[in-house]
Amino acid sequence: MSASCWSFRALWLPLVLMSAAADEQGEGCSGSAKRCGNLTMSDPFWLADEGTGRSCGSPDFVAVCDSNFTGFTSPVLRSAMPFSDGFAILNISYEDRSLHVIDVGKVHVLQVANSCHVPIWNSSVKLRPSFRIDPANVNLIFYNCTEVAAAAAVARSDLGLARTMVRCGNEWEVLVRVGVPYDVTGNYGGYALEGCHAVVMPIMGSSTGANASDYERLIGDGFLLTWLEPPHRARKFTRQITF
Ligand SMILES: *[C@@H]1O[C@H](CO)[C@@H](O)[C@H](O)[C@H]1NC(C)=O
Ligand SMILES: *[C@@H]1O[C@H](CO)[C@@H](O)[C@H](O)[C@H]1NC(C)=O
Ligand SMILES: *[C@@H]1O[C@H](CO)[C@@H](O)[C@H](O)[C@H]1NC(C)=O
Ligand SMILES: *[C@@H]1O[C@H](CO)[C@@H](O)[C@H](O)[C@H]1NC(C)=O
Ligand SMILES: *[C@@H]1O[C@H](CO)[C@@H](O)[C@H](O)[C@H]1NC(C)=O
Ligand SMILES: *[C@@H]1O[C@H](CO)[C@@H](O)[C@H](O)[C@H]1NC(C)=O
Repeated sequence: MSASCWSFRALWLPLVLMSAAADEQGEGCSGSAKRCGNLTMSDPFWLADEGTGRSCGSPDFVAVCDSNFTGFTSPVLRSAMPFSDGFAILNISYEDRSLHVIDVGKVHVLQVANSCHVPIWNSSVKLRPSFRIDPANVNLIFYNCTEVAAAAAVARSDLGLARTMVRCGNEWEVLVRVGVPYDVTGNYGGYALEGCHAVVMPIMGSSTGANASDYERLIGDGFLLTWLEPPHRARKFTRQITF
C-alpha cells in the first residue's frame, strides 16, 4: 500500500463519521418544525421526546410540550436550577431571536398562596446559558418579610408595595413592588428592605407605571428573553472551514 492510499482514508474517515452523526440526528428529529399548542418549534428549539429520550440539539433549547404549568398547552424550557420550574413559551420570534415567556415557578407560588411556599430564585439564575433577559423589561420584586418588617414596609407609601396572598400563618408574608428598572449588572442591592428577602423577576416594559396590586396579571403577562446562537452550529461551521 502506498502512502497516498492512507492519506486518502485519513481524509475520508471524518466525513463518514460526520454523515453518521447527521443521520442519527435526522431520524425522529430531522430538523423539521413541530407544533406545540399554538407554536411552531424549529431550530434551535426542539421538543423532548419522552419515549426515545433522543437529543435533537443543544440542551439549552429543549422544551417539553405541556399544559400542566399554565393551564394551556405550551412548550416549557428547563430551569438551570435543580427542582425548580422553568419558562413556558408564549411566542417566539426567530427573526429577532426573541421569545416571550412566563416564569412558571412564580405562577405556582401564587396558586398555592397559603402553603408556606415562597419564591426562591431570581428569574435570571434559572436561565440556561444561551438566554438573556431583554433590557426592554422592567422588574417586579417579591419581598418575603417577617410580619413586623412587612408592616413597616407597607407603611412607607413611597415604595408602592402591595400585599400578596402569599403568606405563612403569622410567620412571614410576601410583598410586591413593581416598576424597578432593568439593571445590566443584575445588582438590585439598592432595593433591599430590612427584614425581607428579595427575589427579582422581569415583567414587560409596557407595565411601567402599573399598580403593584395587579401583580397576578403582571406575572401572567410574562416577559422577553433573547437567545444566542447555540454552540453546535458554531462547531459545524468550524468543521466546514477545516475541510
Ligand atoms: C392560541 O390561539 C388562539 C386563536 O388565536 C387563541 O385564542 C389562544 O389564546 C392562543 N393560545 C395561547 C396559549 O396563546
Ligand atoms: C402533567 O400531569 C399529568 C397528569 O396529572 C402527569 O401524568 C404528568 O407527569 C405531568 N407532567 C409534568 C411535566 O409534570
Ligand atoms: C408572535 O410573534 C410573531 C413574530 O414576532 C408576531 O408576528 C405575532 O404577532 C406574535 N403573536 C402574539 C400572539 O404575540
Ligand atoms: C422568608 O422569610 C422568613 C422570615 O424572615 C424566613 O424565616 C424564611 O427563611 C424566608 N424564606 C425564604 C425562602 O427566603
Ligand atoms: C436575588 O437578587 C437579589 C437582589 O439582587 C439578591 O439580594 C438576592 O440575594 C438574590 N437571591 C438569590 C437566591 O440569588
Ligand atoms: C393600587 O391599587 C390599590 C387597589 O386597587 C389601590 O388601593 C391603590 O390606591 C392603588 N395605588 C395607586 C398608587 O394607584
